[in-house]
Amino acid sequence: MALSGSAPRELARAAGVLRSGGLVAFPTETVYGLGADAANEKAVARIFAAKGRPADHPLIVHLAQPEDVALWARDVPASAWRVAERFWPGPLTLILKRAAGVLDVVTGGQDTVGLRVPDHPIALGLLQVFGGGIAAPSANRFGRVSPTSAAHVLSELGDSVDWIIDGGACAVGLESTILDLSGKHPRLLRPGAVTPEMLNETLGELPTWLAIGGPRTPGRLPSHYAPETPLYLVETDALESTVRMIVGQEQSVAVLSVQPNGTGDARCRWAVMPADPMEYGRVLYARLREADNWGCRAILVEMPRADEDWDAVHDRLRRAAGAYADRRPVAALVRSRE
Ligand code: TXA
Ligand code: MG
Repeated sequence: MALSGSAPRELARAAGVLRSGGLVAFPTETVYGLGADAANEKAVARIFAAKGRPADHPLIVHLAQPEDVALWARDVPASAWRVAERFWPGPLTLILKRAAGVLDVVTGGQDTVGLRVPDHPIALGLLQVFGGGIAAPSANRFGRVSPTSAAHVLSELGDSVDWIIDGGACAVGLESTILDLSGKHPRLLRPGAVTPEMLNETLGELPTWLAIGGPRTPGRLPSHYAPETPLYLVETDALESTVRMIVGQEQSVAVLSVQPNGTGDARCRWAVMPADPMEYGRVLYARLREADNWGCRAILVEMPRADEDWDAVHDRLRRAAGAYADRRPVAALVRSRE
């Protein structure tokens, strides 16, 4: 595993790693991706092995420019070209009917393919030098929080990745919006920085939002994006009493809240979160990782306002908490000292 910067010579070497069937982790504006040559079946199979990801979960193919869509998709509707022109490069993935020749290992055997032109100079530079599509999921182990720095990638994947390009912290911090344009009507599969309202302006139609739980997209499973410490979403009103209950049991607790720490108890570790939804999304995964490393009995996250601008953040928080929702309530959890 080599860690490198973004000088042209280093991008050329990273592209060489891709050409020889290796795995390259690279920054995008959303999260770090774990990339392989999308036309090399063996290389793409290595992504699944490195992540521990089930083989039927499809990957996004990253492209250098919108025109390349024609190489990977067929029957591309006019709406897709309009959306691509408006939002690419950017944090939007389009699901389209796949072109003949796109590998089953990339699409999970589905008739569609996910495509995205990322808005990051290193990702675009790498795509241009490489000259083909790069299949890349988020560079984390399956079911874990996506990485937003090169250090996160290293701690997630270590030696199972051949090359990591360090581009600093990701500007968006949450995974791309996924818009399915393969059917009659546009459908939103994952909320992100490109909102349904923004898409509506270009599509002339508000995409329908699919409820969490579809079988084929791991990003839509409720238990995705989870830290290892049990995480609970708590309403603002109940935050203080929940903290008191936990520290009252002489257990430690981590709190992510937009309010300042009012407890003053040493067993309560507190991270003040940004009040702006974009800023909040940008730092969320790094804060979750830090809080996970504190080794507390539980992580409490103050539920952000119910507001469209917070949809992407809400979605990721619900999934992070979802892994524990079917287990014990927070009170039962902290009373037991297993
Ligand atoms: O921001 C992002 O999208 C990041 C960066 C690296 O581009 N990538 C990312 O990839 O989040 P991943 O694999 O962690 O999540 C992609 C999601 C998965 O839930 C996958 O199942 C879904 O996109 N997906 C990919 N192709 C699909 C398809 N043909 N049909 C339906 N869902 C698809
Ligand atoms: Mg992922």
